[in-house]
Amino acid sequence: MKILVTGKNGQLGRYIQKIVNADTKIGNNQSPNEYIFVSREDLDLSSESSISHYFNNNDKFDIIINCAAYTQVDKAEQKSELANQINHLAVKQLANIANNQQAKLIHISTDYVFDGESNKPYLETDTPNPINAYSRTKHAGEKALQALMPINALIIRTSWVYSEYGNNFVKTMLKLGKERDELSVVNDQMGSPTYAADLADAILEIIKHKKFKDVAQTTQIYNYSNEGEISWHEFAKEIFKIEKIECEVNPVTSQQYPTPAKRPRNTLMNKDKIVKVFNIKISNWKSSLNTCMTLLKKQQ
Ligand SMILES: NC(=O)c1ccc[n+]([C@@H]2O[C@H](COP(=O)([O-])OP(=O)(O)OC[C@H]3O[C@@H](n4cnc5c(N)ncnc54)[C@H](OP(=O)(O)O)[C@@H]3O)[C@@H](O)[C@H]2O)c1
Repeated sequence: MKILVTGKNGQLGRYIQKIVNADTKIGNNQSPNEYIFVSREDLDLSSESSISHYFNNNDKFDIIINCAAYTQVDKAEQKSELANQINHLAVKQLANIANNQQAKLIHISTDYVFDGESNKPYLETDTPNPINAYSRTKHAGEKALQALMPINALIIRTSWVYSEYGNNFVKTMLKLGKERDELSVVNDQMGSPTYAADLADAILEIIKHKKFKDVAQTTQIYNYSNEGEISWHEFAKEIFKIEKIECEVNPVTSQQYPTPAKRPRNTLMNKDKIVKVFNIKISNWKSSLNTCMTLLKKQQ
């Protein structure tokens, strides 16, 4: 199978590459899959003509994994048109292309499609109600994909993604914690962190699964994050504990720490569906955080 992965320099895209390359190196990649990783230089999702040009000039694909997105939540408030092009209109175009090529499409979405007002973990069937520009564009992307592809697509909603790569909360906290004696971090937004390595593993497991390979499967949404429910405040405290950083973490409310984009209060997601359907094993957030931080240390 020929598999296209967008967002090759993003956290998730880089981890899919890392796992595929490692498997090939140790001879574990028995499958005849050929992966093609593309960056925005190869395939610019902000340009309709760039997308058409790319697919008109390449052989058809069997699977498209869309890891690329406009992910700057606060900036999206100002750049909502660009975010909409990348997170919504480009997804619509990819869905049309996938249909024409009879390819399956795996698309990544976000817990932020929910307003966070529920007191229970969100199910895939709960009604989204996005409360900021980024989330509205991601939700519009989901809806466009579902409308165009009643079969052969899969949407994975994830949350609080971090890794050794790119910019993320873990790396920001490590930097700030070493520079300052105290920090204020919100303690009224609850959710689950997701180590990009674990999500990449899950996606590659899904591709191998018989259920995914079945022809004409109905399009489904799946939730995926690591296990556990925490606030950003607890997340920061654990990062400092592992790294033995002596920086006081003061809990503050979202009201005390205003950001351009409003964040949902509770976006914990129920992961039973992905576990049951694809037999995915999900690690606890603390063990995955430890793994990531060990690797970050090795990079220093
Ligand atoms: N990060 C999170 O906390 C989080 C939470 C929930 C859901 N998600 C979703 O998870 C998925 C993966 O996120 P991530 O954390 O891996 O994101 P990321 O690290 O920000 O990577 C996003 C990728 O998209 C690429 N991209 C941006 N604009 C593009 C364009 N115009 N054309 C082509 N590529 C473009 C970026 O390219 P460059 O490297 O060139 O900038 C980057 O490689 C996304 O769908 C995101 O919405 C993320």
